[in-house]
Amino acid sequence: MKVSLSESTWDKSSADIVALAIPSGKDKFGRALGRIEAVTGKGSIKPLASDERFSGKASQNLKVAAAGKAKSRWLLLVGIGDEKDEAKIGWALGHALASAARAQKSAALELPNVTAEAVRAASQGLLAGAYRYTEYKSDKTAKATLSSAVILGAPKGKRGLTAAVREGKALAESVNFARDLVNRPPNDLTPVTLARAAATESRKLGLSCRVWNKARIQKEGMNLLLAVNKGSAIEPRVIHVVYKPARSKKKVVFVGKGLTFDAGGLCIKPAGSMVDMKCDMAGAATTLGIVFAAARLKLPIEVHAVVGSTENMTGAKAYRPGDVYKSLEGKTVEVINTDAEGRLVLADVLIWAARKLKPDYMIDHATLTGACMVALGPWRAALYTDDDKLAAKYLDAAAGEGESFWRMPLDSDLRSTLKSSIADLKHMGGRYGGSIIAALFLKEFIGETPWMHLDIAGPAFTDRPKGRLPKGGTGFGVATGVRFLEGLG
Ligand code: BES
Ligand code: MN
Ligand code: ZN
Repeated sequence: MKVSLSESTWDKSSADIVALAIPSGKDKFGRALGRIEAVTGKGSIKPLASDERFSGKASQNLKVAAAGKAKSRWLLLVGIGDEKDEAKIGWALGHALASAARAQKSAALELPNVTAEAVRAASQGLLAGAYRYTEYKSDKTAKATLSSAVILGAPKGKRGLTAAVREGKALAESVNFARDLVNRPPNDLTPVTLARAAATESRKLGLSCRVWNKARIQKEGMNLLLAVNKGSAIEPRVIHVVYKPARSKKKVVFVGKGLTFDAGGLCIKPAGSMVDMKCDMAGAATTLGIVFAAARLKLPIEVHAVVGSTENMTGAKAYRPGDVYKSLEGKTVEVINTDAEGRLVLADVLIWAARKLKPDYMIDHATLTGACMVALGPWRAALYTDDDKLAAKYLDAAAGEGESFWRMPLDSDLRSTLKSSIADLKHMGGRYGGSIIAALFLKEFIGETPWMHLDIAGPAFTDRPKGRLPKGGTGFGVATGVRFLEGLG
């Protein structure tokens, strides 16, 4: 989508549809509608709003025919409640406009305050709202989406606004890239094609992308990753993308769980739990989205994405409960339930990244546990780290992007549940605190590296749209990760 700036105002805009922010609250709401009726004519909006119970509450929209009264054919009144954050308002306007304007050719929006933050968020919201996964739709009309939008009221030459449009776009493109990967069906997106997608995008952005095949992974000694792969007919891959600016202030490594399908292995999942398990590579998608966004935005931070990718299947060679494997770190691990495969894959990748890359921060994203969703509900991710400052910074970044995380305890009391009678440790513990125990297992494999684990099992994939999350793959975590990196620069 082409997003541009214009000095024009909404009443002079000839775009097919124009979006306007409407606050709630008796006075503000009335005044906002009054201002529009001054152009469209008294009584042209208020009775309709009242009939449709539109009161300017956040996430309420009202589409009004402006025929003949304003220059545009439609007005889209976007409820913003009592939101004051310019970026949140910008995002809401952009998102609502792009979602509503599929059939229109041209669209425009008016920001209450035309600041760089607001413009960036509006541009980000426009591209996020226009997102649809249509790769497998034969019907061309399903693919219709807004091709251009204008942000109004932008004084010519006002500093930073053009850059802000570009930034919002760069960010949203990276989020949408992650969404596309998650939405691709698992017969199409395998470890092999995931690596190809990462390599193709890396090439476009001039980044280095190294891909390890099975033989190389064997040579490195990632036996836990290889154990998970045994039941699959498709080779595993380790994918390593590097964005290295000329001067960088910090080095951050993102690690992603890339299970392109999780059938559970021999401890097979029931059909109902398996159906969306193409989403089990969402951590990998987020990780890649972040490094690509960092490159598009030319952040002054060295960013690595390291992904461990395989399927978890039930083939004749599949790993079994009771098997013991020696991790890359050196510890031996007893397998209990083959469906707790993500932590095995991550363990090998985390220790490799910690040792070889020696980052200032290592942050993993993983759709790791159903227990996380039991604890926090389907739209919130769990955040684990021993580093209070890192947690605070990350939660701050998340709040700015409207993504929901919650800090959880790395409760060392639960560590004893990982004791094994025949190996150094088991990969799972008891019934209670499943998300915490998974995090404690990972913690065994990070050495001294400052580390944070993000369990995104819930918000990575949704069955219906919710707030910033579209249906299907959401790209959750990309925007927060990028904002965190920007805060380091
Ligand atoms: N990929 C799943 C976790 C998951 C569940 C992600 C629902 C997204 C939505 C993970 O590999 C898994 O199966 N975890 C098990 C662990 C258990 C066997 C200890 C779980 O949560 O049931
Ligand atoms: Mn599993
Ligand atoms: Zn899994």
